[in-house]
Amino acid sequence: MTITTTMIPHSRPSIDQREIRAVTNVLQSGHLAQGAAVERFERGMATYLGLAGGVAVNSGTMALEVALRALGIGPGDEVILPSYVCAAPWQAVQRVGAQACLVDIEPETFQIDAELARAAITSKTRAIIAPHLFGLPADLTALAQLGVPLIEDCAQTLGAMEQGRSVGSVGVLTVCSFYANKLLCAGEGGMVLSRDSELLERARALREYDSAPSLIPQATNLKMTDLQAAIGLAQLNRLPELLERRVSLAREYREALAGTSAILPAVPAGRSHVYYRFIIRIPQTELGSDELSGCLERMERQGVQCRKPVFRSLHRYLGFDGFPASEAAEREALSLPLYPALADEEAAQILIAMRDEWRRE
Ligand SMILES: Cc1ncc(COP(=O)(O)O)c(C=O)c1O
Repeated sequence: MTITTTMIPHSRPSIDQREIRAVTNVLQSGHLAQGAAVERFERGMATYLGLAGGVAVNSGTMALEVALRALGIGPGDEVILPSYVCAAPWQAVQRVGAQACLVDIEPETFQIDAELARAAITSKTRAIIAPHLFGLPADLTALAQLGVPLIEDCAQTLGAMEQGRSVGSVGVLTVCSFYANKLLCAGEGGMVLSRDSELLERARALREYDSAPSLIPQATNLKMTDLQAAIGLAQLNRLPELLERRVSLAREYREALAGTSAILPAVPAGRSHVYYRFIIRIPQTELGSDELSGCLERMERQGVQCRKPVFRSLHRYLGFDGFPASEAAEREALSLPLYPALADEEAAQILIAMRDEWRRE
């Protein structure tokens, strides 16, 4: 075992002179608040996804809330979402006063299970929130056939394909996050996108309280600054190269782990993966044993910070039973550092640590 003192963080943004120049230009322009850069970023994202437009806001969480409100969702309505995801989608549903209906995930891909979503539909269901987790698309084909408005949560996935269509191009509304560790980052920020200009107008009216033809009680200040938009635009221009680097690192990780006990990320036929996260499964060898904590500790001792990809499934916070695939993912899933800002030496150190930890059988 190699003992290392420098720690490779689990994630780190990829920032170079392009982002620095873009921010400097905004600072020198004298206009820092929402302005021309935000408009350019909205148009750029909409073009990237082939949609009519976008409404930039201050976070992915608020983008989810705005998407729900734009659809007119509120008290008495139900929204379906997976249990194995961060708390943001559940919190957005709570804030609009609707009921969240949790469903389990596909055991191999970690994505919302479309069949279980179908079974959860009632006369009160008004939307399905489908997060594309870790860089892999959810089963958009099956979800789009359910006849319920689909909100695609692209916080973790951009540029991946499902049956020839890009994630974010299928739902009635698409939501992005530009938080510091995301595929395309701006520090903080989010966006609601759509091909439906009426939904976009409703979303826009919720983003700010000023210059509105009438008072909207739910509207508030959710604006993004031009500083964030400038970073976002620079990252959007670099997105193809950033994703390429992720896919190439993933290829190396796969080769290092082939034939070991670690279970590699599943990529079903017709879907492509952009590896926002490289998630492996650590099979549990004995009943009650905690293999995952051991792996996390040993990798850390080798200078590689790994993480559980989802802190806690929503059903466990809420005390519900009956989510076996989410619980297995919580027990077994481990996320390795994989991002474009990794130096070659860091990637080499991760590969060595991986080969030490998961030996070929
Ligand atoms: C799937 C998913 N949806 C929504 C969000 C919320 O985004 P934000 O952190 O920008 O509020 C996140 C956050 O990380 C996320 O992973």
